[in-house]
Amino acid sequence: MENDKSKQSRRDFVKQGTMIAGGIMAMPLVSNAGYFNSVDDTIKVAVIGCGGRGTGAAMQALSTKQNVKLVAMADAFRDRLDNSLKALTKGDEGNVKDRILVTEDTKFVGFDAYKKAIPLADVIILATPPGFRPIHFEEAIKQGKHVFMEKPVATDPAGVKKVLEVAEIAKKKKLNVVVGLQRHYQTSYRELYKRVKDGMIGDITSGQVYWNSDGVWVRPRQAGQTEMEYQMRNWYYFNWLCGDHITEQHIHNIDVMNWFKGGYPVKAQGMGGREVRTGKEYGEIYDHHFVEYTYADGTVLNSQCRHIKGTYSIVDETIVGTKGVVRCGPAEILYKGKSLFKFDKAKENEPYQNEHDELFAAIAKGEYKFEDADNGAKSTLTSIMGRMATYSGQIIDWDKTLNSGLSIQPKTYAWDAPPPVLPDENGFYPIAKPGVTKYFT
Ligand SMILES: NC(=O)c1ccc[n+]([C@@H]2O[C@H](COP(=O)([O-])OP(=O)(O)OC[C@H]3O[C@@H](n4cnc5c(N)ncnc54)[C@H](O)[C@@H]3O)[C@@H](O)[C@H]2O)c1
Repeated sequence: MENDKSKQSRRDFVKQGTMIAGGIMAMPLVSNAGYFNSVDDTIKVAVIGCGGRGTGAAMQALSTKQNVKLVAMADAFRDRLDNSLKALTKGDEGNVKDRILVTEDTKFVGFDAYKKAIPLADVIILATPPGFRPIHFEEAIKQGKHVFMEKPVATDPAGVKKVLEVAEIAKKKKLNVVVGLQRHYQTSYRELYKRVKDGMIGDITSGQVYWNSDGVWVRPRQAGQTEMEYQMRNWYYFNWLCGDHITEQHIHNIDVMNWFKGGYPVKAQGMGGREVRTGKEYGEIYDHHFVEYTYADGTVLNSQCRHIKGTYSIVDETIVGTKGVVRCGPAEILYKGKSLFKFDKAKENEPYQNEHDELFAAIAKGEYKFEDADNGAKSTLTSIMGRMATYSGQIIDWDKTLNSGLSIQPKTYAWDAPPPVLPDENGFYPIAKPGVTKYFT
């Protein structure tokens, strides 16, 4: 039974990570649902990476029922930060203007901007390109902050390993961590998952997952840019920043299979290439990947992702079991063509908003509820293994990859420092070649 001594105010909970880190607090964490009598119930947020998603996530955090204030913003570039703040304050998407307390003194720009913004807040939104996620996540947890971080959470095995290590520290400090794999926060997926867990489709034996689309933006090279600035702006096409589209986008679908299966593949093999998107503005990434993942019990996942205009578009997941098939798009479970369950789409929620609703509600109640980093890291690794498989044409093993220490990050983060991949004299970047590119000897 809870007694007065064990009661912990919401403000204390918000701050507690720092105290545990300093070794001050020895008492166990308790939940105090509805306990709101602290003087100040403000939950302060900082956003690191103020692009499309950082702005969206900040808006969602500020749109929750809690007393959330945006107090600091950090971006590599001043213009991106300014545009984000403009979008947040113009009020088109909802009135959150009065929840924005960002001043000139709490706007930070450059590679070190995150270090200055993190201390000012209780909850940190991490929404830069994923190459930076491991170091930003590490800093946020070190400073005892709750985190919302976008997927993917790394672009290479060393980054994944780091996130897994930091995830353990977050658990010890009881810091909530939500990863933006929003299907986990979407009602239809939760309803399907519940039924799969309860045995409706028997044992899962295979799956097919897809992210086939036209592709995304290109940010053309501008006169006067250093190579580092160019790659930072046009980040989608450089693996150290993006991880290729199999990691950056298709992770959502691969993750659904991992989630429903309750595990991660032990190996991957596949094929891919650059068929259409061959210009220098497309950096070093492929435009299609097809990967066969095998789980420990022999279950096979076929994964396909494509960025080619004028081709069949599909973003979806199908999970096949011994007693039924889940079709995630239509949110239906079937057996031999007969419907066993169909989710009523009228009951669908807005998963991007729900991620924040649930996270901030938990923080306000003093609950430790979310530890998404471990799964976020492992689904990220699954997608990275797919990339390594298509680039090399070899079988890529889970344990070997995770423990490889393979890093594709630059040695130095500075505008005049060389990024890890450089163009040739005609502006073209080295492209992985199956049969030639090797990861393990
Ligand atoms: N969950 C989803 O459905 C979803 C949707 C879109 C994007 N995302 C993810 O969100 C992340 C950001 O994507 P986006 O579409 O917003 O890209 P974006 O280019 O619009 O924004 C990224 C921002 O980060 C800034 N940035 C880059 N390096 C930085 C650094 N070291 N420190 C501070 N700021 C830095 C950039 O200047 C830019 O403003 C990616 O990981 C992406 O995969 C997730």
